Amino acid sequence: MDIGGNSLTYLGHSTFLIETEGREKIIIDPWLEENPQTPEDLKRIAELDTILVTHGHHDHFGDVIPLARKTGARVVANFEISSYLLANGIENVHPMQKGGPDQVGEIKVTVTDAIHASSIAEEDGTIVYAGEPGGYLVEFRNGFELYHAGDTGLFGDMRLIGDLYAPDLAILPIGGRVLMGPFEAAHAASFLKVNHVIPMHYGTTPFPVELAGTPEQLRERLEDISPETRVYALKPGESWEQPAQ
Ligand code: NI
Ligand code: MN
Repeated sequence: MDIGGNSLTYLGHSTFLIETEGREKIIIDPWLEENPQTPEDLKRIAELDTILVTHGHHDHFGDVIPLARKTGARVVANFEISSYLLANGIENVHPMQKGGPDQVGEIKVTVTDAIHASSIAEEDGTIVYAGEPGGYLVEFRNGFELYHAGDTGLFGDMRLIGDLYAPDLAILPIGGRVLMGPFEAAHAASFLKVNHVIPMHYGTTPFPVELAGTPEQLRERLEDISPETRVYALKPGESWEQPAQ
């Protein structure tokens, strides 16, 4: 396992910034301006090549349109969100659905399942259907592969993801209530057979619902369920350091 020249930085909640060895910049689920976890000096991003969107909820989609407008980055999203973006003047869309991979710039992207909902709430309260939620497998040029689960409950086909793709690193939600809590995330790590987990989507305040799960609880659950898995609780602004072999 080697993340090589690629870097992965947590920007809080479910937002991650990737810089590849070829200096491509990729953001997953950008929620910056109103994200209470994002450090002030990281809220403004000047250059981006690719935006990956898991679903339409505001805490994942909130900064997609402003960032796409500002940077011209291509936006990878399902058909419904792509159509919404086109209707809002964002032309550089790259629709994908769950299925086979696609080469997107320097990375290979596969959309996975996620057990959740997906819609876009307009300012006037209208709810726009935003297709099915998903997660992303991202494979770098050097073969390193990460899985960003998006918002999801535990599902049995995570075993399939583990069997077929064997990701090196999984980024899993642990807040509970509207997605996996620490117990479910520990089983997800076991299903995925991953040795490295970065928890996300927890401890965000203010937030409409309490996201009470903690990395410590995840570590405790893993002791019984998948003891070889290590947990990296990144603080917003921190980058993932490749562990010593
Ligand atoms: Ni959501
Ligand atoms: Mn969410």
